[in-house]
Amino acid sequence: MRKFLLTIFISLLAMVIVACSGGDKETTDTDSGDSDATSDDTEQVVIKFSHVTTIDSVKGQAAERFAELVEEKTDGKAKVEVYPSSQLYGDNDELDALVSGNVHMIAPSVTKMVKLDPRWQYVDMPYLFEDQEHARKFFESDVAQTILNSDQLASNDIMGLAFWENGFKHFMNDKQPLREPSDFEGLKFRAQAGKVLESQFEALGAGSATIAFGETYAALQQGTVDGTENTFNNIDTQKYQEVQKYMTVSEHGRLDYAIFVNKSFWEGMPADIREQVEEALTEATELEWQLAADDNAASFENIKDSGKVEVIELTDEERQALSDAFKPVYDEFSDVITQELLDGIEALK
Ligand code: LMR
Repeated sequence: MRKFLLTIFISLLAMVIVACSGGDKETTDTDSGDSDATSDDTEQVVIKFSHVTTIDSVKGQAAERFAELVEEKTDGKAKVEVYPSSQLYGDNDELDALVSGNVHMIAPSVTKMVKLDPRWQYVDMPYLFEDQEHARKFFESDVAQTILNSDQLASNDIMGLAFWENGFKHFMNDKQPLREPSDFEGLKFRAQAGKVLESQFEALGAGSATIAFGETYAALQQGTVDGTENTFNNIDTQKYQEVQKYMTVSEHGRLDYAIFVNKSFWEGMPADIREQVEEALTEATELEWQLAADDNAASFENIKDSGKVEVIELTDEERQALSDAFKPVYDEFSDVITQELLDGIEALK
Protein backbone atom coordinates (compact mmCIF):
# COMPACT_ATOMS: atom_id res chain seq x y z
CA MET A 1 0.00 0.00 0.00
CA ARG A 2 2.84 2.37 0.97
CA LYS A 3 4.58 1.62 -2.30
CA PHE A 4 1.33 2.23 -4.19
CA LEU A 5 0.75 5.59 -2.43
CA LEU A 6 4.37 6.55 -3.03
CA THR A 7 3.98 5.73 -6.74
CA ILE A 8 0.88 7.95 -6.94
CA PHE A 9 2.70 10.74 -5.11
CA ILE A 10 5.72 10.53 -7.45
CA SER A 11 3.43 10.51 -10.50
CA LEU A 12 1.57 13.60 -9.28
CA LEU A 13 4.85 15.34 -8.50
CA ALA A 14 6.17 14.55 -11.98
CA MET A 15 3.00 15.94 -13.56
CA VAL A 16 3.31 19.14 -11.51
CA ILE A 17 6.97 19.51 -12.53
CA VAL A 18 6.07 19.05 -16.19
CA ALA A 19 3.23 21.55 -15.94
CA CYS A 20 5.41 24.11 -14.16
CA SER A 21 8.34 23.68 -16.57
CA GLY A 22 6.16 25.06 -19.33
CA GLY A 23 7.41 22.23 -21.57
CA ASP A 24 4.30 22.52 -23.71
CA LYS A 25 4.88 26.21 -24.32
CA GLU A 26 8.38 25.58 -25.66
CA THR A 27 7.11 22.96 -28.03
CA THR A 28 6.78 23.83 -31.67
CA ASP A 29 3.19 24.36 -32.70
CA THR A 30 2.24 20.93 -33.99
CA ASP A 31 -1.25 21.88 -35.13
CA SER A 32 0.02 23.65 -38.23
CA GLY A 33 0.58 20.33 -40.00
CA ASP A 34 3.29 22.23 -41.87
CA SER A 35 5.77 19.40 -42.04
CA ASP A 36 7.89 21.13 -44.69
CA ALA A 37 8.73 24.06 -42.44
CA THR A 38 12.33 24.17 -41.29
CA SER A 39 13.56 24.98 -37.83
CA ASP A 40 15.16 28.40 -38.46
CA ASP A 41 12.92 30.56 -36.38
CA THR A 42 11.01 28.04 -34.36
CA GLU A 43 11.34 27.48 -30.65
CA GLN A 44 12.89 24.37 -29.15
CA VAL A 45 10.93 21.19 -29.83
CA VAL A 46 10.32 19.23 -26.64
CA ILE A 47 9.51 15.55 -27.08
CA LYS A 48 8.05 13.94 -23.96
CA PHE A 49 8.92 10.25 -23.92
CA SER A 50 7.22 8.11 -21.30
CA HIS A 51 7.99 4.49 -20.44
CA VAL A 52 7.52 2.06 -17.58
CA THR A 53 10.86 0.35 -16.98
CA THR A 54 13.82 1.55 -14.92
CA ILE A 55 16.51 3.82 -16.26
CA ASP A 56 19.03 0.94 -16.17
CA SER A 57 16.82 -1.50 -18.08
CA VAL A 58 17.46 -2.19 -21.76
CA LYS A 59 14.69 0.20 -22.77
CA GLY A 60 15.67 2.78 -20.16
CA GLN A 61 19.30 2.99 -21.30
CA ALA A 62 18.34 3.22 -24.96
CA ALA A 63 15.81 5.97 -24.23
CA GLU A 64 18.48 8.01 -22.43
CA ARG A 65 20.93 7.57 -25.29
CA PHE A 66 18.23 8.55 -27.77
CA ALA A 67 17.71 11.78 -25.82
CA GLU A 68 21.47 12.54 -25.95
CA LEU A 69 21.61 11.82 -29.68
CA VAL A 70 18.65 14.10 -30.39
CA GLU A 71 20.28 16.94 -28.49
CA GLU A 72 23.58 16.41 -30.36
CA LYS A 73 22.12 16.02 -33.83
CA THR A 74 19.74 18.95 -33.61
CA ASP A 75 22.22 21.25 -31.84
CA GLY A 76 19.78 21.55 -29.00
CA LYS A 77 16.88 22.61 -31.23
CA ALA A 78 15.06 19.52 -30.04
CA LYS A 79 15.12 17.97 -26.61
CA VAL A 80 13.75 14.63 -25.41
CA GLU A 81 12.42 14.57 -21.86
CA VAL A 82 12.43 10.94 -20.76
CA TYR A 83 10.07 9.86 -17.95
CA PRO A 84 11.02 6.29 -16.90
CA SER A 85 9.53 3.91 -14.30
CA SER A 86 5.87 4.89 -14.94
CA GLN A 87 6.70 8.29 -13.35
CA LEU A 88 4.36 10.16 -15.61
CA TYR A 89 2.10 7.46 -17.04
CA GLY A 90 1.88 3.72 -16.38
CA ASP A 91 0.41 0.81 -18.29
CA ASN A 92 -3.15 1.93 -17.69
CA ASP A 93 -2.89 5.41 -19.13
CA GLU A 94 0.25 5.70 -21.27
CA LEU A 95 -1.50 4.90 -24.55
CA ASP A 96 -4.38 7.29 -23.85
CA ALA A 97 -1.82 9.97 -23.02
CA LEU A 98 -0.18 9.43 -26.42
CA VAL A 99 -3.49 9.55 -28.29
CA SER A 100 -4.41 12.79 -26.56
CA GLY A 101 -0.93 14.27 -27.12
CA ASN A 102 -0.07 14.60 -23.42
CA VAL A 103 3.09 12.65 -24.23
CA HIS A 104 4.61 12.47 -27.68
CA MET A 105 6.47 9.17 -27.66
CA ILE A 106 6.05 5.85 -25.87
CA ALA A 107 7.78 2.46 -26.17
CA PRO A 108 5.33 -0.07 -24.79
CA SER A 109 5.61 -3.80 -24.90
CA VAL A 110 3.57 -4.34 -28.06
CA THR A 111 1.07 -6.58 -26.26
CA LYS A 112 -0.27 -3.41 -24.66
CA MET A 113 -1.39 -2.14 -28.08
CA VAL A 114 -4.16 -4.75 -27.97
CA LYS A 115 -6.56 -1.96 -27.03
CA LEU A 116 -6.20 -0.51 -30.53
CA ASP A 117 -5.45 -3.57 -32.62
CA PRO A 118 -5.66 -7.18 -31.34
CA ARG A 119 -3.11 -8.34 -33.91
CA TRP A 120 -0.33 -6.97 -31.71
CA GLN A 121 -0.84 -10.06 -29.57
CA TYR A 122 1.15 -11.97 -32.21
CA VAL A 123 4.03 -11.48 -29.76
CA ASP A 124 2.28 -13.64 -27.13
CA MET A 125 1.55 -16.61 -29.37
CA PRO A 126 3.49 -19.34 -27.57
CA TYR A 127 6.66 -20.55 -29.23
CA LEU A 128 5.94 -18.56 -32.39
CA PHE A 129 9.48 -17.19 -32.55
CA GLU A 130 12.29 -19.69 -32.85
CA ASP A 131 15.15 -17.53 -31.65
CA GLN A 132 16.47 -13.97 -31.41
CA GLU A 133 17.44 -13.94 -35.07
CA HIS A 134 13.91 -14.86 -36.07
CA ALA A 135 12.56 -11.92 -34.05
CA ARG A 136 15.04 -9.54 -35.70
CA LYS A 137 14.15 -10.77 -39.17
CA PHE A 138 10.58 -10.01 -38.28
CA PHE A 139 11.38 -6.44 -37.09
CA GLU A 140 13.07 -5.77 -40.44
CA SER A 141 10.35 -7.39 -42.55
CA ASP A 142 7.50 -5.94 -44.59
CA VAL A 143 5.17 -8.02 -42.43
CA ALA A 144 6.22 -5.99 -39.41
CA GLN A 145 5.85 -2.70 -41.29
CA THR A 146 2.21 -3.45 -42.10
CA ILE A 147 1.30 -3.66 -38.43
CA LEU A 148 3.56 -0.76 -37.43
CA ASN A 149 1.87 1.54 -39.96
CA SER A 150 -1.67 0.27 -39.77
CA ASP A 151 -4.85 2.26 -40.38
CA GLN A 152 -5.98 1.35 -36.87
CA LEU A 153 -3.08 3.33 -35.45
CA ALA A 154 -3.43 6.22 -37.89
CA SER A 155 -7.12 6.60 -37.06
CA ASN A 156 -6.06 7.11 -33.43
CA ASP A 157 -3.47 9.71 -34.44
CA ILE A 158 -0.57 7.37 -33.73
CA MET A 159 2.23 6.07 -35.88
CA GLY A 160 4.90 3.45 -35.25
CA LEU A 161 8.52 4.33 -36.00
CA ALA A 162 10.66 1.37 -34.99
CA PHE A 163 10.78 -1.94 -33.18
CA TRP A 164 12.83 -2.18 -30.03
CA GLU A 165 13.65 -5.57 -28.64
CA ASN A 166 13.69 -7.13 -25.23
CA GLY A 167 13.69 -10.91 -25.52
CA PHE A 168 12.16 -14.20 -24.52
CA LYS A 169 9.98 -14.52 -21.44
CA HIS A 170 10.40 -17.06 -18.67
CA PHE A 171 8.01 -18.23 -15.96
CA MET A 172 8.56 -17.48 -12.26
CA ASN A 173 6.57 -18.35 -9.17
CA ASP A 174 6.96 -18.76 -5.45
CA LYS A 175 5.20 -22.12 -4.97
CA GLN A 176 7.01 -24.89 -6.85
CA PRO A 177 9.38 -25.73 -9.69
CA LEU A 178 7.53 -25.54 -13.03
CA ARG A 179 8.61 -28.21 -15.48
CA GLU A 180 5.48 -29.62 -17.02
CA PRO A 181 1.97 -28.35 -17.76
CA SER A 182 0.44 -29.99 -14.67
CA ASP A 183 2.82 -28.00 -12.42
CA PHE A 184 0.96 -24.81 -13.35
CA GLU A 185 -2.48 -26.04 -12.27
CA GLY A 186 -4.22 -23.79 -9.77
CA LEU A 187 -1.51 -21.12 -9.74
CA LYS A 188 -2.29 -17.50 -10.54
CA PHE A 189 0.03 -15.39 -12.70
CA ARG A 190 0.43 -11.72 -13.45
CA ALA A 191 -0.21 -10.95 -17.14
CA GLN A 192 0.57 -7.79 -19.10
CA ALA A 193 -2.64 -7.39 -21.10
CA GLY A 194 -4.98 -9.12 -23.52
CA LYS A 195 -6.87 -12.34 -24.02
CA VAL A 196 -4.03 -14.32 -25.58
CA LEU A 197 -2.02 -14.29 -22.37
CA GLU A 198 -5.14 -15.18 -20.41
CA SER A 199 -5.66 -18.15 -22.74
CA GLN A 200 -1.98 -19.13 -22.48
CA PHE A 201 -2.31 -19.55 -18.72
CA GLU A 202 -5.71 -21.24 -19.02
CA ALA A 203 -4.18 -23.82 -21.35
CA LEU A 204 -1.92 -24.79 -18.43
CA GLY A 205 -4.79 -24.90 -15.94
CA ALA A 206 -3.63 -21.64 -14.34
CA GLY A 207 -5.36 -18.33 -13.73
CA SER A 208 -4.10 -14.86 -14.50
CA ALA A 209 -4.69 -11.23 -13.62
CA THR A 210 -3.73 -8.18 -15.64
CA ILE A 211 -1.52 -6.04 -13.41
CA ALA A 212 0.38 -2.93 -14.43
CA PHE A 213 4.15 -3.36 -14.61
CA GLY A 214 4.69 -0.73 -11.93
CA GLU A 215 2.48 -2.67 -9.50
CA THR A 216 3.78 -6.15 -10.19
CA TYR A 217 6.55 -6.32 -7.59
CA ALA A 218 4.06 -5.46 -4.84
CA ALA A 219 1.52 -7.96 -6.20
CA LEU A 220 4.14 -10.71 -6.08
CA GLN A 221 5.35 -9.67 -2.66
CA GLN A 222 1.85 -9.55 -1.21
CA GLY A 223 0.80 -12.83 -2.84
CA THR A 224 -1.97 -11.27 -4.96
CA VAL A 225 -0.54 -13.57 -7.64
CA ASP A 226 1.77 -16.57 -7.28
CA GLY A 227 3.92 -15.91 -10.28
CA THR A 228 4.74 -13.93 -13.36
CA GLU A 229 6.53 -14.17 -16.71
CA ASN A 230 9.13 -11.80 -18.03
CA THR A 231 12.53 -11.42 -19.67
CA PHE A 232 15.73 -11.90 -17.67
CA ASN A 233 16.45 -8.17 -17.81
CA ASN A 234 13.01 -7.12 -16.61
CA ILE A 235 13.12 -9.73 -13.84
CA ASP A 236 16.55 -8.54 -12.76
CA THR A 237 15.94 -4.78 -12.95
CA GLN A 238 12.62 -5.18 -11.12
CA LYS A 239 14.28 -7.50 -8.56
CA TYR A 240 11.59 -10.18 -8.83
CA GLN A 241 14.17 -12.67 -7.56
CA GLU A 242 13.64 -11.10 -4.12
CA VAL A 243 9.99 -12.16 -4.06
CA GLN A 244 9.92 -15.34 -6.19
CA LYS A 245 11.50 -18.73 -5.51
CA TYR A 246 11.59 -20.49 -8.89
CA MET A 247 12.39 -19.44 -12.44
CA THR A 248 11.85 -21.74 -15.42
CA VAL A 249 13.94 -20.92 -18.48
CA SER A 250 11.01 -21.54 -20.81
CA GLU A 251 11.42 -19.01 -23.64
CA HIS A 252 7.74 -19.60 -24.34
CA GLY A 253 6.93 -16.13 -25.68
CA ARG A 254 8.51 -12.82 -26.47
CA LEU A 255 8.42 -9.35 -25.01
CA ASP A 256 9.32 -6.68 -27.53
CA TYR A 257 8.62 -3.00 -27.95
CA ALA A 258 7.75 -0.54 -30.63
CA ILE A 259 8.28 3.21 -30.63
CA PHE A 260 5.02 5.06 -31.18
CA VAL A 261 4.57 8.78 -31.66
CA ASN A 262 1.60 11.07 -31.70
CA LYS A 263 1.10 11.52 -35.45
CA SER A 264 -0.02 15.18 -35.44
CA PHE A 265 2.91 16.12 -33.23
CA TRP A 266 5.36 14.20 -35.37
CA GLU A 267 4.11 15.56 -38.66
CA GLY A 268 3.96 19.07 -37.25
CA MET A 269 7.67 19.08 -36.38
CA PRO A 270 9.96 21.12 -38.67
CA ALA A 271 11.10 18.75 -41.42
CA ASP A 272 14.84 19.12 -40.76
CA ILE A 273 14.45 18.42 -37.07
CA ARG A 274 12.24 15.43 -37.75
CA GLU A 275 14.93 14.03 -40.02
CA GLN A 276 17.61 14.47 -37.35
CA VAL A 277 15.39 12.88 -34.74
CA GLU A 278 14.86 9.96 -37.11
CA GLU A 279 18.63 9.58 -37.46
CA ALA A 280 18.96 9.60 -33.68
CA LEU A 281 16.28 6.94 -33.43
CA THR A 282 18.02 4.72 -35.96
CA GLU A 283 21.23 4.89 -33.91
CA ALA A 284 19.43 4.38 -30.62
CA THR A 285 17.62 1.38 -32.10
CA GLU A 286 20.90 -0.26 -33.09
CA LEU A 287 22.17 0.27 -29.56
CA GLU A 288 18.93 -1.03 -28.07
CA TRP A 289 19.14 -4.28 -30.00
CA GLN A 290 22.69 -4.81 -28.82
CA LEU A 291 21.75 -4.01 -25.23
CA ALA A 292 18.83 -6.44 -25.41
CA ALA A 293 21.19 -9.29 -26.23
CA ASP A 294 24.00 -8.28 -23.83
CA ASP A 295 21.94 -7.22 -20.84
CA ASN A 296 19.56 -10.17 -20.92
CA ALA A 297 22.59 -12.46 -20.86
CA ALA A 298 24.14 -10.47 -17.98
CA SER A 299 20.85 -10.41 -16.08
CA PHE A 300 20.53 -14.20 -16.36
CA GLU A 301 23.91 -14.48 -14.65
CA ASN A 302 22.88 -11.94 -11.99
CA ILE A 303 19.71 -13.88 -11.23
CA LYS A 304 21.64 -17.14 -10.91
CA ASP A 305 24.37 -15.48 -8.82
CA SER A 306 21.80 -13.98 -6.45
CA GLY A 307 21.23 -17.50 -5.12
CA LYS A 308 17.68 -16.45 -4.37
CA VAL A 309 15.81 -18.46 -7.00
CA GLU A 310 16.04 -22.04 -8.12
CA VAL A 311 16.64 -21.97 -11.88
CA ILE A 312 14.93 -24.74 -13.82
CA GLU A 313 16.27 -25.50 -17.30
CA LEU A 314 13.93 -27.58 -19.45
CA THR A 315 14.83 -30.63 -21.48
CA ASP A 316 13.72 -30.68 -25.14
CA GLU A 317 10.91 -33.08 -24.19
CA GLU A 318 9.67 -30.81 -21.41
CA ARG A 319 9.71 -27.82 -23.73
CA GLN A 320 7.80 -29.82 -26.34
CA ALA A 321 5.18 -30.84 -23.76
CA LEU A 322 4.63 -27.17 -22.89
CA SER A 323 4.42 -26.23 -26.54
CA ASP A 324 1.84 -29.01 -27.16
CA ALA A 325 -0.23 -27.78 -24.23
CA PHE A 326 -0.54 -24.36 -25.88
CA LYS A 327 -2.37 -25.68 -28.94
CA PRO A 328 -5.77 -24.32 -27.74
CA VAL A 329 -4.30 -20.80 -27.84
CA TYR A 330 -3.70 -21.19 -31.58
CA ASP A 331 -7.16 -22.72 -32.09
CA GLU A 332 -8.76 -19.76 -30.38
CA PHE A 333 -6.64 -16.85 -31.57
CA SER A 334 -5.20 -17.56 -35.02
CA ASP A 335 -8.14 -15.76 -36.62
CA VAL A 336 -7.77 -12.78 -34.30
CA ILE A 337 -4.04 -12.40 -34.99
CA THR A 338 -4.85 -13.29 -38.62
CA GLN A 339 -3.45 -16.27 -40.44
CA GLU A 340 -1.71 -13.85 -42.80
CA LEU A 341 0.37 -12.33 -40.02
CA LEU A 342 1.12 -15.71 -38.42
CA ASP A 343 2.15 -17.22 -41.76
CA GLY A 344 4.25 -14.14 -42.51
CA ILE A 345 6.14 -14.60 -39.23
CA GLU A 346 6.51 -18.37 -39.69
CA ALA A 347 7.95 -17.81 -43.15
CA LEU A 348 10.83 -15.79 -41.65
CA LYS A 349 12.17 -18.76 -39.66
C1 LMR B 1 5.66 -5.75 -18.62
O1 LMR B 1 4.60 -5.17 -18.36
O2 LMR B 1 6.03 -6.77 -18.07
C2 LMR B 1 6.56 -5.14 -19.67
O3 LMR B 1 5.75 -4.70 -20.70
C3 LMR B 1 7.34 -4.00 -19.13
C4 LMR B 1 8.23 -3.42 -20.19
O4 LMR B 1 7.91 -2.35 -20.70
O5 LMR B 1 9.23 -4.06 -20.50
